[in-house]
Amino acid sequence: MNAKEIMSISPIVPVIAIEDEKDALALAQALSKGGVNVMEITLRTSAGLKAVEIISKEMPLMNVGTGTVCNEEDLIASKNAGAKFVFAPGISQELIDASKKHKITLIPGVATASEVMLAQNNDIYYCKLFPATIAGGVDILKAFSGPFSKMNFCPTGGVNLKNLNDFLSLKNVLCVGGTWFVPKDAIKNGDFEKITRLCKEAISSIELV
Ligand code: 3PG
Repeated sequence: MNAKEIMSISPIVPVIAIEDEKDALALAQALSKGGVNVMEITLRTSAGLKAVEIISKEMPLMNVGTGTVCNEEDLIASKNAGAKFVFAPGISQELIDASKKHKITLIPGVATASEVMLAQNNDIYYCKLFPATIAGGVDILKAFSGPFSKMNFCPTGGVNLKNLNDFLSLKNVLCVGGTWFVPKDAIKNGDFEKITRLCKEAISSIELV
């Protein structure tokens, strides 16, 4: 699956920190029920890789990948767990080379023009903007659309219901990432209905332009 396909699955991409892999399937099902069939499970918790392994085996139609992939080791572990793609908070030549070597799609994070250039120079045209609101939000994306007209973004970090449409209405934004519709507490308390509800609320609030 290439980066364009991954970033076109859903307008909202959940950035997940899961504490217990036992919650993995219920979480994946709740998201799917809410219309979200893509998951970025971060490697910030030790349960992350196990959760990817479970979902990729039990729910093959769910497009599950990892996030917070910072080096080759993280990338190999992600692939071995069954991740279909990896998201990174930043970009490095090491990570780009590793993704080619191990044949797994990388969607790196960028926040500056130089980082966008590094992506482009490696034929990468699908990136996260991270941390989106701090890096300049809508304004930096508009500024990037001039010199980097082929680049597409998934703004992540600081995105919420209030600014969702500001991002999604931009031509160079395919989707947004965020945690607001996968709150840690809801996962911990087994309140998966809330997650389905939050997904539906977000998707129904998207204004088509
Ligand atoms: C993160 O750092 O966890 C992600 O970028 C999501 O950030 P958010 O909590 O602002 O959505």
